[in-house]
Amino acid sequence: MRFIVHGGKVLKGEIEVKGSKNAATKMMIVSLLTDEECVLENFPSIGDTDITKELCEHIGATVSFAHGVARLHTPTIKSHQVTQLTRRNRIPILALGPLLSRVGKAAVPVLGGDKIGARPVDIHLDGLQQLGAEITHDDTFFYASAPNGLKGATITLRYPSVGATENLILASVLAKGRTVIHNAAVEPEIMDIILLLQKMGAIIGLGSDRTIYIEGVEKLHGARHRILPDRNEAVSFACLGLAFPGNEVKVKNAVQKDLITFLNAVRKIGGEYRIEDDGITFYRKNGLVASEVETDTHPGFMTDWQQPFLILLTQAVGTSVIHETVYEDRFGYTEELNAMGANIAVFSKCLGELPCRYTGQAHPHSAIIAGPTPLRGIDTLKVRDLRAGMAHLIGALVAEGESVIEGIEEIDRGYEDLDARLKALGADITRID
Ligand code: EPU
Repeated sequence: MRFIVHGGKVLKGEIEVKGSKNAATKMMIVSLLTDEECVLENFPSIGDTDITKELCEHIGATVSFAHGVARLHTPTIKSHQVTQLTRRNRIPILALGPLLSRVGKAAVPVLGGDKIGARPVDIHLDGLQQLGAEITHDDTFFYASAPNGLKGATITLRYPSVGATENLILASVLAKGRTVIHNAAVEPEIMDIILLLQKMGAIIGLGSDRTIYIEGVEKLHGARHRILPDRNEAVSFACLGLAFPGNEVKVKNAVQKDLITFLNAVRKIGGEYRIEDDGITFYRKNGLVASEVETDTHPGFMTDWQQPFLILLTQAVGTSVIHETVYEDRFGYTEELNAMGANIAVFSKCLGELPCRYTGQAHPHSAIIAGPTPLRGIDTLKVRDLRAGMAHLIGALVAEGESVIEGIEEIDRGYEDLDARLKALGADITRID
């Protein structure tokens, strides 16, 4: 599938942010921890929730989505083995905790790396082993068992991985005794997952300095929860509002407290915004100016924001720098932007001051962007990953002339009904199946 985009149109109006992809998919897995029904409101209907539905149904859940509400009910676990699903995402590894808690054994597919890096799961597996899981693997599956049940432990993560933190929370809420996770990730989506788990009967406390305390309970019950708005959608739409002189985009449901670092970065490049009760409006009065950005774990500048933000930097006066410290290989999409007229050079040296796991290695994880460069449409944009696809789309909306973006299934994994929502802002975008 592809999008045909005629860029250079002024975008104005309101666009509503849906529920967070990276909370919704995990909450679907959380629902597997109880034999009662869980109801998730503000639920996004996207490719990744469809893939996770397939996974949950395979395990034994009944799942329905309608009008932004998902209902999930897993009275019994029918299969402890998540067979190869028809499509892939990174969610299956999180099913280890619920399956070990409910039936003492689990098998989930090995996913391997993808277009943004190797994406190992060693931190997940180490932590689960410290909780008492025995884990082996072959080329296609991880096999885990905990014949005597999982037991609380004190675990220090080597890096505050989002997925590993979630995996260990899910595995320890029903474990015997107390678990302490040091150096945990504290992203807003994780806090929202904790709110859902607390409603279900879990005991989870937050300490200072990235520590999470969990007292295992015997049983969890069903709950109803409204999923937080998607910060990544909010930033993508904010960048649309800032990308073109004359644009003014109200991002309905964008939450200031989850976007503090992004909003500071917008102000530094000369972008404007107005915080309102029900959202944030983005626009620009004057031209944009160059800046420096380093991605980091929360509360830093999120790695999923660098791609739409980089498009703004191509339109800013001066030389900007981005140092990506979360993934080792997340600038591949800049090749196509250069073909559209951007001037972006990628380097393996750290061009920043944050501690970085990629120092002294050959990973292309820093970028220098010289601007402003007008962009022109090209017909060879190929979506590499979700956020890179969104950057190409924003680039195509800014560019003069026609662009063709191939492989938009990847964009559909994270953005619901995107073309219809962008058309309502005045974008000229057509989906070709
Ligand atoms: N890492 C390890 N070992 C591990 C786990 C992670 O080395 O066991 C490394 C990764 O390779 C990566 C870094 O640590 O370099 C961060 O990975 P993390 O585990 O924090 O990320 P994740 O859970 O795999 C989630 C989001 C990503 C988002 C990151 C960072 C989901 C499904 N994905 O990934 O979102 O970029 O956190 O915030 O929640 C997206 O939505 O398109 C997306 C990629």
